[in-house]
Parts: sequence; C-alpha cells; structure tokens
Amino acid sequence: MFSKIVATGSYLPEKILTNDDLAKFVDTSDEWIRTRSGIQSRRIAADNEETSDLAVNAGRRALDAAGLTAADIDLIVVATTTPDMIFPSTACIVQDKLGASNAAAFDIQAVCSGFVYALSIVDKMVASGQHKNALVIGAEIYSRILNWKDRATCVLFGDGAGAVVLTASQTPGILATKLHADGSRRAILNVPGHVRGGQVWGDPYVHMDGPAVFKMAVQVMADVCNETLAMANMTAADIDWLVPHQANVRIIDATGKRLGIAQEKTIVTVQGQGNTSAASIPLALDTAVRDGRIKPGQVVQTVGVGGGFTWGSALIRW
Ligand code: ACO
Repeated sequence: MFSKIVATGSYLPEKILTNDDLAKFVDTSDEWIRTRSGIQSRRIAADNEETSDLAVNAGRRALDAAGLTAADIDLIVVATTTPDMIFPSTACIVQDKLGASNAAAFDIQAVCSGFVYALSIVDKMVASGQHKNALVIGAEIYSRILNWKDRATCVLFGDGAGAVVLTASQTPGILATKLHADGSRRAILNVPGHVRGGQVWGDPYVHMDGPAVFKMAVQVMADVCNETLAMANMTAADIDWLVPHQANVRIIDATGKRLGIAQEKTIVTVQGQGNTSAASIPLALDTAVRDGRIKPGQVVQTVGVGGGFTWGSALIRW
C-alpha cells in the first residue's frame, strides 16, 4: 500500500498589503524588499479570521477537488506555528468546523518545514493501511506574531493556507521523504515568548538573524533534495517541478542552481504571498496544479526549511 496526493486546495485572506503600503508605517521601501526578497505584496487575515478558518477554506477546496466529503476524511493534520490557541490543536478545531467527525486530528509544529514533516508522517499512516483519506493542511497567520516596528522581519511574512488530500493507493505517490533538525541553531529564528501564570513572558514576536538563516537555508535545501532523490534512485534530471518553501527568491534561486534545476521548472509564489511558513508549499502546489503546470505522472520535489532549525524534502509522483 502507498499514499498518493489526489487533490489540492488553498485560501488567501482578502486583504492585500503591498510593499508601498508597508513603507507608509515602516522605515523600508518597495525597492529594498523586492531586491532582497522578491516579495511585492502579502495577504493579511481579517480580525475575525483564525488560523482554523484559513485551514477550513483551503481544506474544503481540496475536498471539492478530490470529489470527497468531510465524512470521507479519517485523518486531519495541520502544520502551523500560529495555532488558534494553546490547546486543543488547530486540527481538532478544523475537524469540528468541517464536520469531519470520522477523522483523528493533530497538529505538527516544525515552523516553515511543518508541511513536509506532516506529509512525511501522514504518508506512513496512510501507507500502513490505518487511514484511507487524509487532509494535510499548512495554515498560518504570521501577521499576529510579527513586530510591525521591526523592518528586518515584518516585511517578509504573510498569511494563508494550503491543503492536500492524501489517499491510500496501489501505486506510489509519495516516493521518498527525509526530515532533519538541528535544535542547537534555534537562536537564529524563533519566537521566544511563552505563557506563564496568565501572562506572556518574553518576547512574543518573530526574531531572525537574516544572514545566518539565509546561509543555513541555502546549504541544507539542496542537500536534503539530493538525499530523497538518492532514496528513489533518481537524479535532478528526473524532476519536473521543484516546489521549495517560499521564503525568498534568492534562497529559491540558489537552491535551484545547487541542484541543477532550471528556473523554468521551479514554482515561485512568494512575490504575491510573502513567506507563509508551513502554508507556503501547499499554496505553491495548489497554484501550479490549478494553472496546469503540475500534471498527473510528473515528479515533484518539495523542500522545506525553517525555525528549529528544521528541514526536509518529499519527492512525489503526481
Ligand atoms: N528595509 C530597508 N532596509 C532594511 C530592511 C528593510 N525592511 N531590513 C533591514 N534593512 C537594512 C539593515 O538595517 C541593514 O542596514 P545597515 O547596513 O545600515 O546596517 C541593511 O538593510 C542590510 O541588512 P542585511 O540583513 O545585511 O540584508 P541582507 O542582504 O542580508 O537581506 C534578508 C536581509 C532579506 C532578511 C536576508 O538576510 C534573507 O533573506 N535572509 C533569509 C531570511 C528569510 O528568508 N527568512 C524567512 C524565514 S526563515 C525561513 O522561512 C526559512
């Protein structure tokens, strides 16, 4: 038994925040943000939207595309760094809002690598025969954990959600996955605050050593892609589409170069979305499936990297 992605869906909040909008209240410019990151605009969740709402919208679209109903789903996994609350998991809230009463539900916290971590875990749960139809969602509202006075971080992130339906299959869909972590590097990207005694202790905003993250991301992304390719007895020449975590076009370009994959074979959505952390890969997958670039039978390589430090790759036969 194998697992296979049979459908995708995504959701972006309505509000668009352009670089020029940002420059009205942060000491930055459209030119700086574009040249350093490739980002032109990002989406911001409405005050009455929670991460679970974004996840539900993306999940419904994936279910519609799969021709399934919520009752058909027996597992929901949400990758998020920005849960609705400390507990229960956002996945449990999504389960309730979708009416997916037959589904087990839990969250994965691996920051920007969360979707690849979730895909790797759910692949094994479906391939073992324990679950038949799983909804794997990446959903984030980073706008609520950004310090809007810190120009080094607030210009880079956005809100959104993406989802895939993974079903049991006689033919392989997920060909290989590989996950890594290095907790000793946690200081270069984190939100150090926590709740204690009814109060937030420490800083509840994103902190990042940009150049250190950049260096680490470029080093590990190509390496872990090569690991999954080797596991599947493939080379970069076999890849039809590279779908990397969407943090920064310079990191994406450098990864493609190190792998020897042409820019035309790389899906890039960061321009209009910013870095949506765990949501970025499923958002990019859905974009490329719906615009007809990713087609059945093709080989798609996803690769994520983020706080922890964590990184991982999933090699997929679409
Ligand atoms: N607008 C204008 N100037 C800025 C801004 C801004 N928004 N932010 C920083 N600057 C200034 C700095 O203060 C610095 O000024 P100084 O030279 O006078 O001190 C100057 O720009 C250069 O700053 P650097 O940090 O050296 O700029 P760099 O070229 O490294 O680019 C960036 C910064 C875009 C953050 C880059 O390091 C990067 O892309 N890092 C990767 C981080 C990333 O993508 N994180 C996403 C989250 S992690 C993940 O998803 C894996």
